[in-house]
Amino acid sequence: MSAVPSFSFNDRDNARNYCAGGPANFMPGFFLMHRLAVQLLSERAADGARVLVLGAGGGFELKAFCEARPGWRYVAVDPAGAMLDQAKEEIGTAASRVEWIEGYIDDAPAGPFDAATCLLTLHMMKDDGTKLAALKETRARLKPGAPFILVDNCVDAAAPDFRRQMDRYSQFAQDSGVAPDFVARARESVESAGTCVSGARNEELLREAGFGTIEGFYTALSWRGWVATA
Ligand SMILES: C[S@@+](CC[C@H](N)C(=O)[O-])C[C@H]1O[C@@H](n2cnc3c(N)ncnc32)[C@H](O)[C@@H]1O
Repeated sequence: MSAVPSFSFNDRDNARNYCAGGPANFMPGFFLMHRLAVQLLSERAADGARVLVLGAGGGFELKAFCEARPGWRYVAVDPAGAMLDQAKEEIGTAASRVEWIEGYIDDAPAGPFDAATCLLTLHMMKDDGTKLAALKETRARLKPGAPFILVDNCVDAAAPDFRRQMDRYSQFAQDSGVAPDFVARARESVESAGTCVSGARNEELLREAGFGTIEGFYTALSWRGWVATA
């Protein structure tokens, strides 16, 4: 698997800024998306379900899931220790319901899990086999038919309207009140990483990884979300 990306989430200041600045300032409907994720996962994940959370740093989705479903247990995977520390702080006493793995999907237990999520994380991996491997490894850890939620920034670096999509990404953050220099740095980080792909490409990767019934449930500017079954 790839190393922690160049804008390092393993840097304590970056991790703190991510959580303080809040992804909700960059993604329209961030908290509503969590609510929808809980609803969709709950179609199959009963009380007592074991849920794999890939890219769990910061703890935003863990907090939403823990509050909405007190009976679920979690395995939280993230290569950035600083982001996992933030997550532990964020969810407080619910941290006892989480097994923390500082690492990549390959480091996660075999499961089988009742559900899994990968929120705002796949776009940080290269499309050189790394995204596909992460999706395959996630699916391999799920019970047959178990739900998987993928939400990703689908600004497509190869698309002719890339600049316009990035302008909209930046404008939303600016209108949310994020400081212009922070917006500029976030934009630069997305652009220089060059790891975002289109929604169509993500759907293709989900299919290639073996997921079925791939349904879109969320669209906001360049952000897309799907629920798929293992
Ligand atoms: C933009 S943050 C999103 C965090 C959280 N899911 C959220 O929605 O707020 C991306 C997270 O993905 C983690 N990450 C980067 N590469 C990863 C990989 N290959 N596998 C798992 N997590 C990864 C980063 O360390 C970071 O914590």
